[in-house]
Amino acid sequence: MNGKQKITGWKDKILFTPGPLTTSRAVKQAMLQDLGSRDFKFIETVRQIRRDLLALGGVADAGYEAILMQGSGTFGIEATLSTITPPDGKWLFIINGAYGRRMNLIAGVLGLETAVLAYPENRKPNLLEIEETLAQDPAITHIGVVHCETTTGIINQVEAIGGIARRHGRVYFVDAMSSFGAIPLNVAEAKIDFLVSSANKCIEGVPGFSFVLARREALVAADGYARSVSLNLLAQWRGLEANGQFRFTPPTHALLAFAQALAELKMEGGVRGRYGRYQHNYQTLVAGMRKMGFTEYLKPEDQGPIITSFHYPDHPNFDFKRFYEALNARDFVIYPGKVSDADCFRIGNIGRIFEADVRSLLAAIADVLDEMGIVLGE
Ligand SMILES: Cc1ncc(COP(=O)(O)O)c(C=O)c1O
Repeated sequence: MNGKQKITGWKDKILFTPGPLTTSRAVKQAMLQDLGSRDFKFIETVRQIRRDLLALGGVADAGYEAILMQGSGTFGIEATLSTITPPDGKWLFIINGAYGRRMNLIAGVLGLETAVLAYPENRKPNLLEIEETLAQDPAITHIGVVHCETTTGIINQVEAIGGIARRHGRVYFVDAMSSFGAIPLNVAEAKIDFLVSSANKCIEGVPGFSFVLARREALVAADGYARSVSLNLLAQWRGLEANGQFRFTPPTHALLAFAQALAELKMEGGVRGRYGRYQHNYQTLVAGMRKMGFTEYLKPEDQGPIITSFHYPDHPNFDFKRFYEALNARDFVIYPGKVSDADCFRIGNIGRIFEADVRSLLAAIADVLDEMGIVLGE
């Protein structure tokens, strides 16, 4: 009997990935219902989800709106960038990983003017440099940064950058895809105008839609700028406000699953409770991996509890594909690396996984190393 069967019984493979991730049985069961998109129960579910999202961001009564957008997280980012940028707008993207680069790519395809402050993937942005860039370039109207850069797991200083953005009167956008719901953040206090996340990350729903928390005044100010029909954030909001409905076919089952996921988040003690579990998963993981001789890519003080990048072990027998497949055969799914300048793989702590699951993964990794004839630290 392997560890997975002992602990959970019902689970398929355990996903140590940054989403899609392991969800609870009740979240999956919530999808066993067909609801029409005009059904009153469905419309009420959507209303409640939007209210809950505002509360999670600490902005229930702070002049913010929650907008749901079909598609994955990237669709939410593209909807926001393409909706809120005026014709003469200019973005400053603060980049230390693949998702920062993706924002810049989206803006480029949209034909938006951009500037970039790029940092190594294992470094946090330099706040002084951001301040200086804004002071020197009055053409910059919008700033974008990623909260948890899932490329490595680094946590960027979104509150401090928000303070700078507000002082300089710029619109502030945060990609909080892999952090929202698990890393405490008050959206208003962080001076965030637009924040994007998605259903299948720390709230532990299934894929199908992204969501945007938008400061109402900043959202309404974007009237007339949209460059897309389906990805028009303002029109989506107006549609939801008018009759509670999506403009186009909603991901009904994913929304029902999400409502259940939000209820489970509340039961866990909200963002703080979830942060505690992920932090514990992370600490268990890192302690076990270090004991086996693995080393992390990031300095511990920069590392968040969401996902950890580990260096490939320096051993002639190590082959990531074999390692991955051997773990997969034992029902543990880890994640390839995304770092550009080092050979790494990643292990996520998010999703319906607990200390016992992490310990089972560690035991499986030890077993696989043994099978591959790898003894680390020799
Ligand atoms: C920080 C961040 N931004 C954007 C994305 C893209 O999200 P999606 O793959 O759902 O489009 C991800 C996905 O992992 C992410 O972690």
